Amino acid sequence: MRRKIKLICLLIAANFQANAQPRQEISLNGEWNSVIDQYDTNRGLARGDRPWGKNDREEHSIDDAPMLHVPGDWNSQREELKYYEGTIWYGRHITLTPESDKRYLLRFGGVSYRARVYVNGTQVATHEGSFTEFEADVTAQLRAGDNYIAVRVNNRRERDAIPAMSFDWFNYGGITRDVTLCVVPSHYISDYFIQLDKHRADLIHARVNLSDSVAGETVNLYIPELKKSVRMTTDDTGTAYADIPVKRLVRWCPANPKLYKVRLTTSTDTVSEDIGFRNIEVRGTQVLLNGEPIFLKGINIHEEIPMQKRRACTEADAIRLLDEAQALGVNMIRLAHYQQSRYMVCEAERRGILLWQEIPVWQAIDFSNTSTQDKAVLMLQETIRRDKNRCADCFWGIANETRNTPERNHFLARLLQAGRETDTTRLFVAAFDLARFDRQQDKFVMKDDFYHNLDVVGINKYMGWYEGWPKAPKDIRWDVCSDKPLLISEFGGEAKYGIHDNGDVAGSWSEEFQARIYQMNLEMFANIPNLVGICPWILFDFRSPTRLHQTFQEGFNRKGLVGDKGERKQAWHIIHNYYKER
Ligand code: GCU
Repeated sequence: MRRKIKLICLLIAANFQANAQPRQEISLNGEWNSVIDQYDTNRGLARGDRPWGKNDREEHSIDDAPMLHVPGDWNSQREELKYYEGTIWYGRHITLTPESDKRYLLRFGGVSYRARVYVNGTQVATHEGSFTEFEADVTAQLRAGDNYIAVRVNNRRERDAIPAMSFDWFNYGGITRDVTLCVVPSHYISDYFIQLDKHRADLIHARVNLSDSVAGETVNLYIPELKKSVRMTTDDTGTAYADIPVKRLVRWCPANPKLYKVRLTTSTDTVSEDIGFRNIEVRGTQVLLNGEPIFLKGINIHEEIPMQKRRACTEADAIRLLDEAQALGVNMIRLAHYQQSRYMVCEAERRGILLWQEIPVWQAIDFSNTSTQDKAVLMLQETIRRDKNRCADCFWGIANETRNTPERNHFLARLLQAGRETDTTRLFVAAFDLARFDRQQDKFVMKDDFYHNLDVVGINKYMGWYEGWPKAPKDIRWDVCSDKPLLISEFGGEAKYGIHDNGDVAGSWSEEFQARIYQMNLEMFANIPNLVGICPWILFDFRSPTRLHQTFQEGFNRKGLVGDKGERKQAWHIIHNYYKER
């Protein structure tokens, strides 16, 4: 019997190869020419340099311009760009021999904040939002030989942007994530969503989209380890569906982050990906992973390498941040306050870490502006589209610390509806800073007219830092969103590594004062009846233009459990021990 199974697996595997039409990913990372266009003159920089005729009179050139490395923020690369907010043009050549039976998709992992992309002088894409991926089919614009790609990047803060005019992190600008030219067959697999049923352990749902809206196309789906080989057929939108019963599936979890090789083939294309399968649900005031209640031992992380004052943008950066998070003993990370790189998400998934990803609807957003609403909806859809097959993603966050106003509630209702229409398999969340201690009722309460629409409620509360203690922490009662699972999505306080005192002086920035904040908050959290987890703010000190204390902050928000040089503070050990004992 065993021999027969082995033979079947070999045949299945062989079948994969029969259709293999290798896709190709050409990296466009590296040195790009760059021109600071401070007044947005938009001269012909889109076209790049051309052969100059005798009568050409152009007052611009980009080929001899200084270089910027991609991926990477511009602020950390050149002294004169340290605080630059404005437009910079990027440009580079690529020599190609385009093939007639291929398509060429130009993909940007992230451009902060607005991008306008040109190929050989023709605009092929515009995008708004620093943290979501976008791509354009540039087949028609490419030619044999030399091709010129130009990108106008602008990171100016605007009232109708997301985030808007002021936020507590550094406004890095630039092409901050990978740029790739994806070469695919002319008829290709353009999208797919393969996930375990929200509530069952024995049923996988698959949806596969082809590039052309043609009915009757065959799509084969293989999961060799489950001995699954499924034949699907597209409908007149070019979409194929399958519900696949499975047996003895090993569900992904922190203790065993199991991933399965999944392969899709059509007559012209083949894609394969490692995909994990798990259930994430809410039952009453509990969060269930694979049917079992889970306590979320979390941490917040910004996408930044503080030691080098720059955006994190490579796989090595992701590994550096996740090594520190894993050493702390987490099983969950809130990727604050925006979607982070593919590297962060895939590496966290391989390590069995649950993720809360969110869009940067952060505090004062122009909620009554419909174009801002449209941007937020698109940003959430882009966030979900990129990571929908990542089982580590369990929570989609739609807002952080927003006011309970009719405009905000209408904005979030529209956003939440769009999210649920895009993904029915995950939990939708938001972080609120509206919980307060009511002396008459002698307990923490929260008045908010939106939270009941969410699956899980996040509470940001800085007792001992932004607010004094109304009584001994162990005597403080909570009655906040008591019908929902409640995660303390932010708490903590600041300390500058290496400052020491006896811990009872607020504003000393001592490690002992920060450690005491942590001890007292953990005592208080023990009384929260619907608590499903905690998420200290934040793993590393991080850069923020709002942090102006010249002695202790020096442009850093120092709520990190780890200093900006990578040193663990006393509070790190308090959380480490707490997680070890949970
Ligand atoms: C807020 C906010 C964070 C900010 C933190 C702080 O809760 O969500 O982005 O950095 O407080 O004040 O340090």
